[in-house]
Amino acid sequence: MSGPAAVALAALVRWTNLVALAGVVGGLVAELLLLPRDGNGLAAVQQRLRRLTFASLTLLVVASGADLIERARTMAEGGIGAAVAALPLVLGRTHFGVMWRLRASTIAIVALLCWTRARSAGLVALATMLAAVFTLAASGHAADWGDATATTIVDWVHASAAFAWGGGLGALWWCVFRAPPSLSSAALVTITRRFSRLALACAAAIVLSGSFNAYVEVAELPALWSSAYGRVLALKVVLVLGALALGAMNRYRLLPALSESAERVIDERPPDRAPARLLMSRYIAGEVILVVVVFGCTALLGQLPPPRRGDAFHDASHTHVE
Ligand code: HEM
Repeated sequence: MSGPAAVALAALVRWTNLVALAGVVGGLVAELLLLPRDGNGLAAVQQRLRRLTFASLTLLVVASGADLIERARTMAEGGIGAAVAALPLVLGRTHFGVMWRLRASTIAIVALLCWTRARSAGLVALATMLAAVFTLAASGHAADWGDATATTIVDWVHASAAFAWGGGLGALWWCVFRAPPSLSSAALVTITRRFSRLALACAAAIVLSGSFNAYVEVAELPALWSSAYGRVLALKVVLVLGALALGAMNRYRLLPALSESAERVIDERPPDRAPARLLMSRYIAGEVILVVVVFGCTALLGQLPPPRRGDAFHDASHTHVE
């Protein structure tokens, strides 16, 4: 396989990895940082979050396996048979192989820690996931200058904030807003307020680090429409702006309305006619869809040659032998 089909397949594999990483990080972030300690209906939400984390971990195992085969296939320049034959070389002798083994170890550690169900183990699992995210940054374009460089570290911060925000959004929608309606209004407002604070910090980090990434990868403004990489990046930024606009609506218009209707429930006043909860659920679903497409654009960027300044080194397969 070669040409556009090969690029599409590699991007699909990368996209699955990104979505799975977001699911694990988002599930852990929501359980550890967003859920209040007590309140009606929290046990059901926690159970849904745990299921989300384990399902995402399973997907991550499959996607990481596919990533390894795909890189081996690119390196061997052949079919599946050639890829399998090249596995020992890719795993043992390439930079990608080192990062892949590190990622596999972190996934195994996170799975064991999540199994114990203790909060302290969950916090260690979340920290370990950041190491898994580093292996992503260290096996993409940002690592062309080396592992311990500003480009890789900024990309790591960018991806970590993106997974916490995007994954947190998915967890909020699926495990909180779509949970059985036993969750108390007060708990819902607490969770949403906490997420809103987290999302603001992550959005600031994502925009700053993303701008740095774009500056490093794109030589000059016209490359945004004259190169395939530039066009995909421009589309990504437009989608991000759409998601941020929905997030701002949630934070500044619907969250105050949600708090107001929770107070009505506590004071036993008649419910507000504006269904803030329903509207917020829809906006969050819209943000989740946009983020999933943003991950698609990101996965595609990883497969396209960036229009960099001068002749900055770029290894399309990221599988140079060490
Ligand atoms: C101002 C907005 C943003 C800009 C300008 C931006 C730009 C970039 C650029 C140029 C890269 C490097 C891609 C490559 O060549 O491999 C990147 C990586 C990445 N972006 Fe963004 N981004 C933005 C927002 C987001 C958002 C909102 C998300 C998801 C929620 C996201 C997720 C990621 C991830 C996960 C990576 C790392 C991919 C990897 O290392 O393989 N970005 N971004």
